Amino acid sequence: MIVSKPPMGWNSWNTFGPDINEQLIRDSADALVRSGLAAAGYNYVVIDDCWSLRERDENGRLVANPELFPSGMKALADYVHSKGLKFGMYSCAGTLTCAGFPGSFDHEFIDAETFASWGVDFLKYDYCYHSDFIKGERLYRRMGLALANCGRDILFSACSWGADETNKWIKTTGAHMWRSTGDINDSWPSVKKLIEKQDDYLDTNGQGCFNDMDMLIVGMHGKGNVAVGGCTEEEYRTHFSMWAFMGSPLMIGCDVREIEKDEESMRILTNPEVLAIDQDAAYRQVFRINGVWNRTDRRVYVRHLENGDMAIALLNATDDENRMIFTSDDLGLPESCGRRLHMRNLWTGEETDVKNATFTTRLPAHGCGLYRVSLVR
Ligand code: GLA
Repeated sequence: MIVSKPPMGWNSWNTFGPDINEQLIRDSADALVRSGLAAAGYNYVVIDDCWSLRERDENGRLVANPELFPSGMKALADYVHSKGLKFGMYSCAGTLTCAGFPGSFDHEFIDAETFASWGVDFLKYDYCYHSDFIKGERLYRRMGLALANCGRDILFSACSWGADETNKWIKTTGAHMWRSTGDINDSWPSVKKLIEKQDDYLDTNGQGCFNDMDMLIVGMHGKGNVAVGGCTEEEYRTHFSMWAFMGSPLMIGCDVREIEKDEESMRILTNPEVLAIDQDAAYRQVFRINGVWNRTDRRVYVRHLENGDMAIALLNATDDENRMIFTSDDLGLPESCGRRLHMRNLWTGEETDVKNATFTTRLPAHGCGLYRVSLVR
C-alpha cells in the first residue's frame, strides 16, 4: 500500500480520551460529512485507546468492549464506510496499551488479521509497555509485516513519539506515518515545542512515510482530555498553519459533533489553499532560512511546491509583536535574475510583490504568516 499524501481525519483521543462508545463514533462520522469536513479531505475516523476489554478471548483475540460497542467493530466499520469514510483503530507494540488495555506484543499477526476482518483501514500503533530487550525497530517491523500480509490495505500509523531514534529506522518498518513528537496538549507552549522539535526531523519527512506532529487541537478551546488552558484563535491558526506547512497528517482532535457552530475553527480547518500546501504532490523537504535571526524565535521556513511555487511560513514564536524579514536571495533568487517574488497571504488573501528583494511584515505574538509565493517578471 502506498500512501502518497498526508492522511487527514478525526481521532477520538484529544477530546474524549477513555470516554468513547459507538454512538460517539457514529455521530462524529455523521458530523464530518454534514459539516463539509469530509469533503475538505478529513476522511479517516479513528478510535484511539480504551476500546477493548482488559482480556483477550480464549483464542487470543482482542475483544471490543461490548458495553461501549454493543454492535461490534465490524458493524461500526460498515457504518463509517457507508458514509464514504475510512475506519481507523488503535493498538500498541507493548504488552499493554498506554491506558493499560491489551497490546499487540507477540500477537501482531493475529491482531492484524482481526483488524482486517473488522474492515479496519488505519492502525495507530503506540509504544507504551514495550520490551526492554527487543528493539523498537523490530517491534514495528513485526506489525508492518503483519499488516502488509493481512489481506487488506491498512495504513500503518506508528506512534513511538520519536523515541529510540525512531527517525533512523521507521522507514524500514512499512509505517506510512510516524509520530515525530511527544503528545500534544491544548496550549501554546505545547504547539511551540512540537514545531521546534520538527527542526530535528525535516530531512526524514517524505512521501510514503510522513512525519506526524500529532493530532490537531483546533476547536478544543480548553475542553477535553488533553486540554490545558486552550489557545487563542491566533495560536490555533498558527498551529494549523505550521502543521499544514510541514506536511503533517491532519487528524482533527476536537469534538466535531457541533463543529458548524464554531465558524472560526471551520474556517481554519477547511481553508483550501492551506490544505493544498499540506497535500502538495511533490512533498519536498521544508528548510529554514533565517538570515539575521538564525536561532531566534523569529523563524522563516520555506518549501518548494510541485508547480514551481514556494510556500513560506513566517513564525513569530516570541511573546511580543515583532517584525519579520527575509530576502529573495535567501530563497535562491538573486536580484540579477530578473524575477521577483509575488506573495499571496493564505489567510487574508492579500497579494504583494516583493520590492528590492526584501519582504518585511509585522506579526503579532505567536502569529504565523503563511504564503504561497510565485515568481513574476
Ligand atoms: C499515547 C499516544 C497518544 C494516545 C495515548 C492513548 O500517549 O501518544 O496519542 O494514543 O497514548 O493512551
